[in-house]
Amino acid sequence: MSADPDLVELARFATLAANGHNTQPWKFHLDPATVSIFPDFARRTQVVDPDDHHLYVSLGCAAENLSIAAHSTGRSTDLIFESGPQTRIDIALANGTVRDEALHQAIPLRQSTRSDYDGQPISASDITLLKAAARQEGVSVLIFTEASDREAILDLVVEANSAQMDDPAFVAELRDWIRMSPKQALETQDGLFAACTGNPIAPAWIASPLFDMFFQKDSENDKYRTQIRSSSGIAVFVGDAEDPEHWVKVGRSFQRFALQSTALGIRNAHINQPIEVAKVRPEFARWLGMPDARPDLVVRFGRAPALPMSLRRPIAEIMI
Ligand SMILES: Cc1cc2nc3c(=O)[nH]c(=O)nc-3n(C[C@H](O)[C@H](O)[C@H](O)COP(=O)(O)O)c2cc1C
Repeated sequence: MSADPDLVELARFATLAANGHNTQPWKFHLDPATVSIFPDFARRTQVVDPDDHHLYVSLGCAAENLSIAAHSTGRSTDLIFESGPQTRIDIALANGTVRDEALHQAIPLRQSTRSDYDGQPISASDITLLKAAARQEGVSVLIFTEASDREAILDLVVEANSAQMDDPAFVAELRDWIRMSPKQALETQDGLFAACTGNPIAPAWIASPLFDMFFQKDSENDKYRTQIRSSSGIAVFVGDAEDPEHWVKVGRSFQRFALQSTALGIRNAHINQPIEVAKVRPEFARWLGMPDARPDLVVRFGRAPALPMSLRRPIAEIMI
């Protein structure tokens, strides 16, 4: 690869970002003055994400990682969302001061931790740091730590999760992105490797019946009940508008929230069912007291041991 190794390293850090179903729906173009991140629509998940909302949020997560990695090397960044036929995020690089080192160090350590947490409260000073990290023009972040609020959100997660589990198209799409065997996870270097989701791993030949055995509506709902009740709180991200530019902003805000959590030893995991199921989303927006808004992400947080890290495809595969 002839690209500047320094820029390749920035792109590598970008790919470690959170992204829906670990589809890694991005392509990178590296220019010394401007790095561009393009959507890879071949990696859409059209059942769970029919309007590419998650895809653009994922691009925002990657752009934020890239920006933080650039700041840690003494560059400044200016992110511009370009819409139209060549939709992309341009990240202009210039000389600046070294900053964001704690968030930079958290990039390779951040993970979605889909396990039970320890149920202990997070200190008010840590919550203040999380809110400050997530601050982003065009995005509101609401933090819920009361048990009664967690229960109300849990009810909506169970309602929406039940609808998804009853939808054969949703289950088929998810199955396509699940990697139950280590061999399959290593071959594709994408998707949801079972070990990273706290599920059993299995050789490919038995993966399909095992998936059917483990992936049942009642047991999944019970899992979410325990996971949400053991969490210290839930963060909800709401963009000011319902368009790709704001979805990118939501991704940037969430990624910084996740990195600041990681730096504080706090884990997080998405419980996005209430924003993914179209008929539950307005109910959730009303519960939030924002009936005209589209809530974008729902994320629980708390403390727990790490799970195995998820894989990423090689950089050479995502360069254009
Ligand atoms: C927009 C978006 C939506 C996501 N939705 C979910 C979700 O509904 N459930 C879940 O468990 N993880 C969800 N995730 C987390 C991804 O599955 C995760 O980031 C990806 O598998 C990579 O793993 P990592 O975060 O551990 O690096 C979502 C992430 C993003 C950015």
